[in-house]
Amino acid sequence: MLSPNRPRLAVLISGRGRNLQALIQAVRDGRIPAELALVASNRAAAPGLTLAHSAGIPTAVLEHNAFASREAFDAALAQTLRGCGVDFLLLAGFMRVLGAGFVEEFAGRMLNIHPSLLPKYAGLDTHRRALAAGETEHGATVHFVSGALDGGPRVIQGAVRVQPGEDPATLAERVLERLELRIFPQAAAWIARGELKLVDGVPHLRGRRVERPLTMDHLEEGF
Ligand code: GRF
Repeated sequence: MLSPNRPRLAVLISGRGRNLQALIQAVRDGRIPAELALVASNRAAAPGLTLAHSAGIPTAVLEHNAFASREAFDAALAQTLRGCGVDFLLLAGFMRVLGAGFVEEFAGRMLNIHPSLLPKYAGLDTHRRALAAGETEHGATVHFVSGALDGGPRVIQGAVRVQPGEDPATLAERVLERLELRIFPQAAAWIARGELKLVDGVPHLRGRRVERPLTMDHLEEGF
């Protein structure tokens, strides 16, 4: 039974869905007070869709190659989300750049998880690039989605120290396990509770301006 007053979340994926699984678990155990109304993917083969099916969450696949243009894809996705009465949108390993019209429609209601300490290493292949640059620390960021790729207002960040001899795969796994799977559910809980808002382009948590990204110290019990 869907309770009428809990916010409805949609999660957009393109791949494995490790972040999706963490969100499903956090909704299931009550840490995120919301309904998972939809999991949508631009790839029919995304393994994360299986996680959604197993959790009984409705899914939608919009293969981007089936659309004549980026705008047509975005319009179809927006229509699908509106049809499900989605309140907030979580991009969890979603590998499509969304156009300005879509971003505008969901401004302030859309969060992305990115595996780097933004503004460093926007874009792809972040772990290899950080290692190649000799970074001593690396991490992950949750940010509101804006028009700039991975450039939206940052909400929370976590960092790990890079170990000697580490390779991109081991670093990616540590960043995912120790950081992403904690900060994304936390940010989702804040936005679902109406505590995290974007006001004039600046994130606010419980009415206080988030001038610099929050840190792992701001995680609540259980995240
Ligand atoms: C994660 O590192 C996420 O930050 C990035 O894509 C990777 C895979 O995510 N956007 P998932 O396993 O599909 O959640």
